[in-house]
Amino acid sequence: MRHQTSDIRHQTNPDLATAVGLLRLRSPLIAASGTVGSVVELAGVADLSVYGAAVAKSVSAIPWEGRPAPRLAPVGLGMLNGIGIQNPGIEAWSREVGPRLAGLDVPVWGSTVGHDAEEFAQVAIGLEVAGVSAIEINLSCPNLEGRMFSLDASAAAEVTTAVRAATTLPIGAKLSPNLVDPVPVTAACVDAGVDFVTLTNTIWGAGIDLKERRPLLSGVIGGYSGPALKPIALRFVIEVHRALPQLPIVGCGGVVTGADIVEFLIAGASAVAAGTVHLAEPQAGRRLLSELISWMRRNRVRSIAELVGTLR
Ligand SMILES: Cc1cc2nc3c(=O)[nH]c(=O)nc-3n(C[C@H](O)[C@H](O)[C@H](O)COP(=O)(O)O)c2cc1C
Repeated sequence: MRHQTSDIRHQTNPDLATAVGLLRLRSPLIAASGTVGSVVELAGVADLSVYGAAVAKSVSAIPWEGRPAPRLAPVGLGMLNGIGIQNPGIEAWSREVGPRLAGLDVPVWGSTVGHDAEEFAQVAIGLEVAGVSAIEINLSCPNLEGRMFSLDASAAAEVTTAVRAATTLPIGAKLSPNLVDPVPVTAACVDAGVDFVTLTNTIWGAGIDLKERRPLLSGVIGGYSGPALKPIALRFVIEVHRALPQLPIVGCGGVVTGADIVEFLIAGASAVAAGTVHLAEPQAGRRLLSELISWMRRNRVRSIAELVGTLR
């Protein structure tokens, strides 16, 4: 049966249901874009029923080759990536992935990326036709030449306006942690019609191979993710939730335990995405949800709603 619940959920009392705007999720855990392929790949190796949603890797209007190797490097507590959004383009993506979406045991969100507003909108149209249930607008890819839309309120609003006009699905802006003040860009995206924001994408970073005196990534600068990102992303969730308390937030950055999910919920997120943890542990979702449930039981928390935005 589609979107069947897992054993973990049957064994438990806590109510894991949550909502991101009009999107009802059976679990607050989301698989973050770019770390679970098109989601179809994850179905073969992991239990998708633990997720409330899974976000497919960002797709562009035409195929992108991405950057040359090396483009992934473990550094310190996290991962540097400079992939450059290698993807087959929306036409091939829809053909190959679209027909398989309905058979997955999780609602799949699409992710649109592009060089200008028109490209973002074109992809959004294709994603909706392909059957995704929501669309993240990736305004914050750290590996694109040219501007990062997320750092400029008017550019972010222009892209959002175009995507809003292109689809009737719920849309969310995925923002960058490279901002000093996340509120003006977030507010601009809200005015342009987003239903939620995802906070955050990776932060710009670099690493050096000392022996070779070479950068670890072919693109030199890439996106840093993993546990070191959590305090940075939490700061964004707290500040945006304070400024715009009605805006649904998907927290994202450095989630590796169930307790990390709880932190983001308390900070003001109503759902929480985990990314890098999947690279070393493709079945992490099941563990994360089971740790979340144990935490809720131990602390006598009966529902996700009892946590969201309860920071004192
Ligand atoms: C290898 C890799 C590829 C990624 N690709 C995308 C992408 O295509 N689109 C996107 O919006 N975010 C992408 N991200 C960012 C993640 O979705 C997430 O926002 C970020 O990694 C922070 O969460 P984490 O610390 O749990 O990984 C990627 C991250 C990694 C590590």
